[in-house]
Amino acid sequence: MKRLGTFYLQDMRAFLSREIISVNGVISKPGETSISVMDRGFLYGDSVYEVTLTYNRIPFLLDEHLDRLYRSAKSIYMDFSFTREELVSEIFKVVEAIEGDRLYIRIIVTRGEGEINLDPAAAKSNNLVIIGRQLPEYPKSWYEEGVTLIVSDVLRNSKRSIDPGVKSGNYLNNVLAMAEAKEKGAFDAMMLNYKGNITEGTTSNIWIVEGDHFITPPLDAGLLGGITRKSLLLLASKNGLNVSEENITPERLKKADECFLTSSTKEIVPIVKVDDSLIGSGKPGPKTQKLHQIYKQFVLDSIS
Ligand code: PDD
Repeated sequence: MKRLGTFYLQDMRAFLSREIISVNGVISKPGETSISVMDRGFLYGDSVYEVTLTYNRIPFLLDEHLDRLYRSAKSIYMDFSFTREELVSEIFKVVEAIEGDRLYIRIIVTRGEGEINLDPAAAKSNNLVIIGRQLPEYPKSWYEEGVTLIVSDVLRNSKRSIDPGVKSGNYLNNVLAMAEAKEKGAFDAMMLNYKGNITEGTTSNIWIVEGDHFITPPLDAGLLGGITRKSLLLLASKNGLNVSEENITPERLKKADECFLTSSTKEIVPIVKVDDSLIGSGKPGPKTQKLHQIYKQFVLDSIS
C-alpha cells in the first residue's frame, strides 16, 4: 500500500487507548497526527467517507460500507491508490489498537494533496484517514422518551449538484441545517428537496408510520441510501410488516402516527415532535419500538 506504514502488535499495545487515528497506515494518538493543509479534503471537501459501528469489536456490515465508499468515489471520479484488501487490513489494525466493544470507525479517503488548483489531476495520491474511538452508549432518553426535529430552511442539494447519494466530505448544507436545529433547541433537522418533499436528517434517514404501514422517502427524493435503511426495508418485509418508499411532505409527516430516524451509529431513534407538532401521542410509538427490537435481533444474529 502506497505510503502506508508498517505497524506491529507490540507498538499497538503501547497505544491501546480510547481513540486513535491512522493516517496512511501510521497509527497515532489524537493530537499527534498531521495531514497537509494542501489536502483537497481540507481545501474543497474533496473526499469520501464512511462511518460504521462495531458490535463485539466487529465493524458492522463493513462490506456494505466499503461498497458504498467505492460507489461514492466512483461518482466523483476518484481512484484509490490502495486495494480493498489493504483498506480492510488498515481498518482492523485500528480496531485492534482500541479497547472496548462499541467502537466508532470513520474511514475518510481524500483525493490527496497537490497545487491549489481545482483540477482533480492536481492531486498525486489519496490520503487515507481512519478514526477509531470508543462510543459510549447514547442517552437512554433518546430511545425511551424520543427526540425533536425541525424542518430546516436549508434544502438538501439536488442530485444534479453533489448527489446526496454520494457520501462525500462536503456536508456544509447539513452543518447549516444542524446549526438551525440547535438554535431552535431541536435534536436534528430534516431537509427538504426543491420539490418540498422530505429527504432525510443531517446524518440519518427518516421514516414515518401510518396505521400499520412503515414509509421512508425513495432514493430519488435525493438522499443517502443508508445501510440501516436498506437493512430495515428488508427486515420489515421479511417480518411481514407493511413497508414502502413514498414521497413524504412535512404536512404528511406531522400527521403521522409515529416517526423515527435511522443510522448506523444511532440505530432507530423515535421522533416525538416536529417543529411545533407532536407526533402521535408525543411518545415513542409501539411500531417504532417493535422495529427496533427486530433490528437488534438482526445485529445479534449477524455477529453471533
Ligand atoms: N451518517 N443520511 C446521511 C446524510 C448520513 O450522513 C447518514 C450516515 C445516513 C444514515 O446512513 P447509514 O444507515 O448507512 O449510517 C443518512 C453517519 C452515521 C455519519 O455521518 O456519522
